[in-house]
Amino acid sequence: MRILSGIQPTGEPHLGNYLGAIKRWTELQHEQECLIFLADLHAITVYNDPATLARTIREAAATLIACGIDPGKTVLFNQARVPAHAEMAWLLNCTARMGWLNRMTQFKEKSGKNRENASVGLYAYPVLQAADILLYQATHVPVGEDQKQHLELTRDIATKFNTDYGVEVFTVPEPLIGKAGARIMSLRDGSAKMSKSDPSDMSRINLTDDSDTIAQKFKKAKTDPEPLPETMEGLEGRAEAKNLVTIFAVLADRAPEDVLGEFAGQGFGAFKPCLADLAVETLRPIRDRFETLRADPAEIDRILVKGAEKARLLSAPTLEAAYKAVGLPR
Ligand code: AMP
Ligand code: TRP
Repeated sequence: MRILSGIQPTGEPHLGNYLGAIKRWTELQHEQECLIFLADLHAITVYNDPATLARTIREAAATLIACGIDPGKTVLFNQARVPAHAEMAWLLNCTARMGWLNRMTQFKEKSGKNRENASVGLYAYPVLQAADILLYQATHVPVGEDQKQHLELTRDIATKFNTDYGVEVFTVPEPLIGKAGARIMSLRDGSAKMSKSDPSDMSRINLTDDSDTIAQKFKKAKTDPEPLPETMEGLEGRAEAKNLVTIFAVLADRAPEDVLGEFAGQGFGAFKPCLADLAVETLRPIRDRFETLRADPAEIDRILVKGAEKARLLSAPTLEAAYKAVGLPR
């Protein structure tokens, strides 16, 4: 197995990122070869202030390390330091079909009503993502639910390239989507996912929120007046309640049914403070490590440069094989 995943280094990483993706990356690195990168080429598909971007790339790296990504075990790097990503994306742009990209729901959401004015990069974003994955012969890609469609596209591109050119250049990767936590919802609206781009900061728990803020956000989180049921089926139609139980379960490494076993019959007045305590205890050490790491940007840069050197070596044979397959001399 070779595990690969990425995260955009814009906005602040939140509890959805942690429970849906980052937490599992930290677990997988002990068992498998892992590559984790900051998708900074993806970040510029919408305008981002250049000076801020340089800072958020370092902060995202610091957050991942604070969450437990060990740069001694995981190859940790940023995309822009490995030119093979952009090169491979071009080759794959010529394999991907317009019809496939036209179906991508994330592009539709992100471009909104003003599609004519969206960047070409935003449209081609999933092809760059395919390049990220296929360059390294990744077998498994741990992501949240929202990335499922991009993984299917990656599989289609890999298969079409191999078939068109009669080669076995690419491994067709599998998504790894967790049973619980793959789609953590907004604290204000159980029908919207927790997201960096939600205008309301109350909708999400940022990994760097202090303890009081975390407690406040859970206290104000939208719920209903009903007590908690015995089973998860009992939570159907109660999206906000289901979300809070899921957050508790994934944070505590327990089955959601087990959590309901403990809290059945109780209301949110009792449940929310327990959830807030659990989140505070989990996030406090992450925030402390983050603050320490952030104070040493040169060290973060050293880690990313070293990771990029490894990534370049690992990606080179596949890039060469892809150029050769399409008949381009180098
Ligand atoms: P992004 O912040 O969009 O770069 O996402 C980084 C990773 O976090 C991806 O694997 C996403 O699928 C995952 N992720 C983002 N938001 C959520 C959420 N609300 N619930 C679960 N996973 C999420
Ligand atoms: N598109 C992903 C997201 O927004 C980030 C990403 C870029 C990624 N390249 C990837 C995830 C490759 C997995 C594999 O979350």
